[in-house]
Amino acid sequence: MRDILLDAAGVAASLGIAEGTNPWHWLKELEAIGQDELEPLELDRRQAARWLDLLRVPAEDAAVVLATLPSRDREPAWWWCLERDVHRLLSNMGEPDAPRGRWPAFEGNQYDDAQRCHFIHVALAVAPATLSYLSGLGIPEEIAFASMADLARHMAIHRRVHRSTGVEAAWWITLCLRGELVELGRLQYNRFTLGGAGSPLWYPENEAIERGAGFRPGDSCLGIHIPEGSPLSPAAVQSSLEMASDFFCRFFTVAQRRVATCMSWLLDEQLAEYLPAKSNIVAFQRRFETVPGSEEGDAQVLKFVFRAGPDADLSRLPQRSLLEQAAVAHLRAGRHWQVRTGWLDLPPAGTPPLPGEA
Ligand SMILES: CC(C)(COP(=O)(O)OP(=O)(O)OC[C@H]1O[C@@H](n2cnc3c(N)ncnc32)[C@H](O)[C@@H]1OP(=O)(O)O)[C@@H](O)C(=O)NCCC(=O)NCCS
Repeated sequence: MRDILLDAAGVAASLGIAEGTNPWHWLKELEAIGQDELEPLELDRRQAARWLDLLRVPAEDAAVVLATLPSRDREPAWWWCLERDVHRLLSNMGEPDAPRGRWPAFEGNQYDDAQRCHFIHVALAVAPATLSYLSGLGIPEEIAFASMADLARHMAIHRRVHRSTGVEAAWWITLCLRGELVELGRLQYNRFTLGGAGSPLWYPENEAIERGAGFRPGDSCLGIHIPEGSPLSPAAVQSSLEMASDFFCRFFTVAQRRVATCMSWLLDEQLAEYLPAKSNIVAFQRRFETVPGSEEGDAQVLKFVFRAGPDADLSRLPQRSLLEQAAVAHLRAGRHWQVRTGWLDLPPAGTPPLPGEA
């Protein structure tokens, strides 16, 4: 059985993936990885169950993940994908500027359980290596596990939206599996090089150079991310920024100034037309200096405020909160939301203990 599945076409036929679709391009990318490059992969039910527990995946979803766990002999096509996806993550562990590659969006109930759980199987196979990479740097286990919490968080979003087991935005979780994302209190951070693949919308090159160290192409930078969850209170943000200052000084020192950037719909100053000055979002905006230019952010607002797609029917969206009302009123008026980049300097490093340290 296994011999006929050594290429993307055989795997695509076995999994019912049509030529030219996004998953088909993903298989073609996996096919480029030679059999001899692959590390031996062990992912049995016991290891998977242990990591589902460690990563706090609820029992209802864990059961589906375990029921679809592929085996080398019984589901050779899924095993072929698993081995190669795991390889792509392991070979770029801790490499923030390495290409992320293509990841299929098996989201929603048009996909079956095996498809929707594939990325979760990948995550369970990689998680021990992620933990040992982070622990090897001396990062406290509590921070390491907090940083890996995105898998369960994005599975919870999938369950909320589709009422089934799956993971929302699998491509995003690659950041946490490669050990690049750290969660420190309310915010997450990742390292990247300005001008590299992970760069946000930024200053034109001449202006970036004029601004000096920290802003120039090739300079090491930080990204700030806001996972959904508790309110973005100024105190929680301040505490997270202070933790980040200490954390990056300790574990990823750089000689130059290193600014922290955020590229988000949350930095669209038009939000201040609708939200009170004391709202958490507007207070968060005030911390950043915004970079000129923007990208259209309607889809991001629909996604992050309503978990709705870009073609959502505005008349059916909930109108409970001020933000929900603003999001719809703005689009109804024929206006567009913007994604903006902002930057700030982290507070001076102190010596507060990090979570997990005495
Ligand atoms: C970032 C976030 C925590 C801010 O929430 P917050 O701290 O409550 O923000 P504010 O205090 O400024 O909220 C102002 C109003 O908007 C509402 N609101 C804020 N975020 C909301 C959201 N995602 N969906 C619906 N309403 C929201 C609040 O309930 C409040 O309404 P009210 O005054 O009628 O009660 C929240 O928007 C969130 O979880 N977003 C998802 C993650 C995200 O967007 N990340 C960025 C990705 S680029």
